Amino acid sequence: MRELLITRPDDWHVHLRDGAILADTCADMARYFGRMVVMPNLDPPVTTVSAAAAYRQRIVAAMENLPRQVEPLMTLYLTERTSSAEIERAADSGLVHAVKLYPAGATTHSAAGVREIRAVYPVLETMQKLGLPLLIHGEVTSSDIDIFDREKVFIDRHLEPLVAAFPELKVVLEHISTAEAAAFISAQAPHVGATITAHHLLYNRNHLLAGGIRPHYYCLPVLKRDTHQQAVIQAATSGDPRFFLGTDSAPHATADKQSACGCAGCYTAHAAIELYAEAFERAHALDRLEAFAAFHGADFYGLPRNRGQLTLRRDSWTVPERLALGDSELTPLCSGEQLAWNVT
Ligand code: DOR
Ligand code: ZN
Repeated sequence: MRELLITRPDDWHVHLRDGAILADTCADMARYFGRMVVMPNLDPPVTTVSAAAAYRQRIVAAMENLPRQVEPLMTLYLTERTSSAEIERAADSGLVHAVKLYPAGATTHSAAGVREIRAVYPVLETMQKLGLPLLIHGEVTSSDIDIFDREKVFIDRHLEPLVAAFPELKVVLEHISTAEAAAFISAQAPHVGATITAHHLLYNRNHLLAGGIRPHYYCLPVLKRDTHQQAVIQAATSGDPRFFLGTDSAPHATADKQSACGCAGCYTAHAAIELYAEAFERAHALDRLEAFAAFHGADFYGLPRNRGQLTLRRDSWTVPERLALGDSELTPLCSGEQLAWNVT
């Protein structure tokens, strides 16, 4: 196949950051996506509807001069102080589409996150009633749990009880990285889903650690062993509508990644669909890419599917070594490597 025409996809999980960086991250998103679910882990985090509205305006302003725009779907950052009144305002706002739960300390800018998940149960009750989805970074943070087991343990200790306590709550387990997560989601009702990144489809922990530490492959949840990668590929390419595209593209300056204590996050927005195409082609499932990228997420969120289209050509190109990131620079995933597909 030399050319692939798909319905314009959406990104159901992205980090755009703020300030001067927005122009760069938004320009990359606008090349591919109709809509994007914008993560709220700014510093300070986006905990109120008014903060989300102001952030949305900055994002829209950053896209003003682009040939096409992406619709930002905003999220609130859940804390133990989030009130049910704020959730009601969010549901009424028309601009907040979900609420994100970060266990405190799990990842970048998660310090203000949730320490005791049961403390937010009253707020989840309101979300369930109002149909507002809960997006979860599904990793425990206790230092006694091995980092490669943190997703599995989160599912056992927190997600299973949560889903049982709120049988009608829309839940998205974000950026799944394990066979256990894929199996858990497959066994749930249609309103419990998961996003999958391109990096968790393309790589496993050997890419991160064999032959030298490669900080640009470091993300959270951390890449797991090959058997988990295979299970995540199987989920993404299965056609099951509970699995959909979420890049988790997360920009960090090159110097912050190539450091003694490097930041977690892979930047994939520069080649978002090309990277997924690579993964789906390797799995002989290019015919399933469109539904994963453009249908399943929209259907899950209860939003109309996009009407425009996107063309991919089999026309290899070399990913740049570095990209601008405001007044700094970042190293994108696959920097200097060839990708087979090109979005025109
Ligand atoms: O790798 C990651 N980077 N995982 C996350 O959960 C957060 C993200 C970021 O914001 O940098
Ligand atoms: Zn993320």
